[in-house]
Amino acid sequence: MIEKIHHVGIAVHSLDDALRFYSETLRLPVHASATVEEQGVRAALLTIGQSEIELLEPLSPESPVGKFLERKGEGLHHICFQTPDVDAELEELKAKGVELVDQQPRKGLAGMICFLHPKANRGVLVELATPVE
Ligand code: CO
Repeated sequence: MIEKIHHVGIAVHSLDDALRFYSETLRLPVHASATVEEQGVRAALLTIGQSEIELLEPLSPESPVGKFLERKGEGLHHICFQTPDVDAELEELKAKGVELVDQQPRKGLAGMICFLHPKANRGVLVELATPVE
């Protein structure tokens, strides 16, 4: 079951520059930030009502977000759907033959997460997440 949009991920060249807009100008509070080496990003999560904005700065041009910036420039990178059980959701989609990026959920900034292939979602990279308390 998909419950809501958990967050929208935005690829940026500079997290500090992006935070000047999202945090200072729009006044959205930052509630988490981290360097996630496995995903090759510096990230920050900002609260926007019941949802979140995730800003992603690549650690290197060769990382997935680095390549995305090179191809498309800054902008919408992915949408994350919240589910209470990411394992069950992923198994169900696998059984339906949905194209995936991740075959297994893994630990991410938003909890246990996995990515579906953009081809499955009409060109949009979709993340599924089950937040951990
Ligand atoms: Co995300």
